[in-house]
Amino acid sequence: MLPGEASMKLIHLSDPHLVRPGQVLHGLDPAKRLSTCLDDIARWHGDAAFAVISGDLTDDGATETYTWLKHRLDAFPLRTFLILGNHDDRAAFLGVFGGHPTDANGFVQFRHDTEAGAFLFLDTVKPGAAEGAYCAARADWLAAELDAIGDAPSFIVMHHPPFEIGLPRMDRLRLSDTAELQRSLDHGRDIRHVFFGHVHRHLYVNWRGLPCTCLPSTSHQVPVTRKATGTPYSAEPPAYGIVTIGAGQVTVNADAYLHRVPLGGDAAP
Ligand SMILES: [Fe+2]
Repeated sequence: MLPGEASMKLIHLSDPHLVRPGQVLHGLDPAKRLSTCLDDIARWHGDAAFAVISGDLTDDGATETYTWLKHRLDAFPLRTFLILGNHDDRAAFLGVFGGHPTDANGFVQFRHDTEAGAFLFLDTVKPGAAEGAYCAARADWLAAELDAIGDAPSFIVMHHPPFEIGLPRMDRLRLSDTAELQRSLDHGRDIRHVFFGHVHRHLYVNWRGLPCTCLPSTSHQVPVTRKATGTPYSAEPPAYGIVTIGAGQVTVNADAYLHRVPLGGDAAP
């Protein structure tokens, strides 16, 4: 079977924003929320090849918080890939997740090959800033990986979107200087999909011909119409993405697992 013809299922979740155990963030308990999400995934999607959490693993970047996450994932049946977001601390993360892969420059970038194609996990963190960055050193790694992948399909996972989404508050915090990213992506011959986080919404964007999807946070969301809430965050439903990859198709089903309220009737929709 050629790469790209195999079918595969994975789970995409994002932005758990964990704080220290017992602490509350924006009125919610991020650890409890993530645990509920992981339990649901384990119950219904134990057949997935892996899960990925696309950054902002913690809100506080504290060693204690990463330690809680590591222990929680030890009890989660799916292999789980992690990338970092602007709320994360690279050194604290690597201190807890000892032996985690990085590129030669210490950025948390790595590649995972599957029968459906190669997954490239990017590090867009700019220490001390909420916005993203992708420097020449990181782009050189990505270009080299895409060259090595050649004609096989590839998939990108990154935290910051390299485009605007129409929400000024989030657009100010995107990966705004995309020159190096675009230079490296031009080495890709068959990039099928970009999975991203950061914006705390379920979103689809086609960027430069690339389909890109984001899932809500497992905790707090960013409302589209801030004037409607009067607050920067909202309690819109969290969701995880059930991603199926087959020949010529990538499908993302967002499951709002806390809001599966049964309704009457048995007619087909
Ligand atoms: Fe976030």
